[in-house]
Amino acid sequence: MQAIVLGSAAGGGVPQWNCRCPICELAWAGDTRVVPRTQSSLAISPDGERWLVVNASPDIRQQIASKPQLQPKSLRDSPIAAILLTNGDVDHVAGLLSLREGQPFTLLATAEIQRSLRQNRIFDVLAPERVRRVDVRLDQPLEPLPGLVATLFAVPGKVPLWLEEDEVAIGGEGETTVGVIFESAGRRIAYIPGCAQVSQPLRQRVKGVDLLLFDGTVLEDDDLIRAGVGSKTGWRMGHVPMRGENGSLKRLSDLRIGRRVYVHINNTNPVLVEGSDERREIEAAGWTVAHDGLSISL
Ligand code: MLT
Ligand code: MN
Ligand code: ZN
Repeated sequence: MQAIVLGSAAGGGVPQWNCRCPICELAWAGDTRVVPRTQSSLAISPDGERWLVVNASPDIRQQIASKPQLQPKSLRDSPIAAILLTNGDVDHVAGLLSLREGQPFTLLATAEIQRSLRQNRIFDVLAPERVRRVDVRLDQPLEPLPGLVATLFAVPGKVPLWLEEDEVAIGGEGETTVGVIFESAGRRIAYIPGCAQVSQPLRQRVKGVDLLLFDGTVLEDDDLIRAGVGSKTGWRMGHVPMRGENGSLKRLSDLRIGRRVYVHINNTNPVLVEGSDERREIEAAGWTVAHDGLSISL
């Protein structure tokens, strides 16, 4: 099984179009300590031939352009046979609009996420006679590609920002925000790019996986406030911090996980700066900070 991190940044990317926080500043300046990153997406394949893309990033065209494996092999063709969504956030669905050129593929997501796409007519550009939309049940393994089994499971989350109403429930577990376990040839990968809390059921899910790709949006709950770019906490955005008693570093440290990689990293997160104390801290704890194109074969 091969996994390629197509986009390692959270919504906005690095640098973000309207940001000059200290980290975006380094990226704008071309400082090699901060590598530019596109928005959140993963490609996965059991054989290196057929690919499943998890989350359709607004940057999907650029991501395909930088990965020969994902490029057409004949007149009208794509090695991308299916797209799977882990939530309905803009950084995970907007790329669907770039896949509208009459190419058949399967679009997999929970019934709730499929419903929000159906209620938004712009997604009808994916013609039903070509793009098969499949409602995926939680905890029911399916085979999106021959030789690859995927199981979706609920993780603590929240509704997408564009569907928020006056009262926003955070941390609920249902069809809104999911993680995925991929299995192929006896190896297991867990992909969880958005997660509000490392709950006990989540710990059980990821126990013993060969590779964990996990939500690295914020280092601390108040990253955005401290950076002066906003008033939202990680919790309010549905993202558990790395640090702290309930942070992912601590809560995922003891589960016999083969390799740990942070993805969906926000441009305010100091771990993006190579050589920083924060980067050293999380690497010492056994984590890798993903960059675009990071490829892992299991
Ligand atoms: C998030 O991960 O919190 C979302 O991508 C935010 C957004 O939709 O802008
Ligand atoms: Mn996001
Ligand atoms: Zn920034």
